[in-house]
Amino acid sequence: MRLSIASILTAALLATSPALAAGGYGKLLDHEFAFDGMFGAYDQGELQRGYKIYEQACSACHGMKFVPFRALADENGPGFSNAEVQEIASRYEVADEAGDPGDTRPGKPFDYFPTPMAVGNPPDMSLLAKARAGGALHIYSVLLGYTGEEKEVAGTFLYENTGYGGYFGMSQPLWEGDIEYTDGSPETLEQYANDVSAFLMWAAEPKLVERKQAGVWSLGFLILFAVLVYFTNRRVWAQVKGSKGPHS
Ligand code: HEC
Repeated sequence: MRLSIASILTAALLATSPALAAGGYGKLLDHEFAFDGMFGAYDQGELQRGYKIYEQACSACHGMKFVPFRALADENGPGFSNAEVQEIASRYEVADEAGDPGDTRPGKPFDYFPTPMAVGNPPDMSLLAKARAGGALHIYSVLLGYTGEEKEVAGTFLYENTGYGGYFGMSQPLWEGDIEYTDGSPETLEQYANDVSAFLMWAAEPKLVERKQAGVWSLGFLILFAVLVYFTNRRVWAQVKGSKGPHS
């Protein structure tokens, strides 16, 4: 019986750990996020700071076409107020379907994050944290993985990065002190990398915490069920052994 409880535990643990997508890259740094582990959860302050970094340091090149502005008000996400979401949306220019082709207007909460025109094919960030082995840790490791080496290949600059696993086309987008924090959090590159990676994990998987909680609940039920089955079994067999029927 101990064996089957152990295997149920293992199965449940596997079910609650984040799925790792295919496509291995560079070296992952050692870092723990607030949402890691069975009881991990998104940290609202972290997500709000991470959003600020996305807006100020990444959104000029990386869009999030599957994420509507209104999601920023998600209570299990960044939890911005509706007024803040309105204000944020209005800072972006989105395509104006009612106007001529190419016309834009300020964003509204129901709009989606626009895809900017940028050189070098920066990937869309809606799903980036799920599309790479390592998830948020991959993004974290890229942001902290610049070696300072660069080279020019056919007129394009490439930058060496241990998190990416070689040379690629994005120059270091974020430096210590770049983004102003108003809540007293340290304005270090490590803190920035943590916050924006957490934000992008939320963007890619807003239901991560609910999924984990459901996992923990089902784990609890499985354990209870296993214990009940165990004792029921023992009672049934105790009665069979104890009875003095014609076959015993
Ligand atoms: C000036 C434009 C620009 C800015 C600003 C920028 N990026 Fe990039 N980023 C790129 C380009 C271009 C690529 C693709 C490079 C390549 O594949 O060679 C890229 C690739 C990446 C990758 C690698 C994706 C992969 O394939 O694994 C990550 C992670 C990333 N960016 C994160 C960020 C984050 C986080 C920010 C904000 C802090 C940011 N980027 C800001 C242009 C930019």
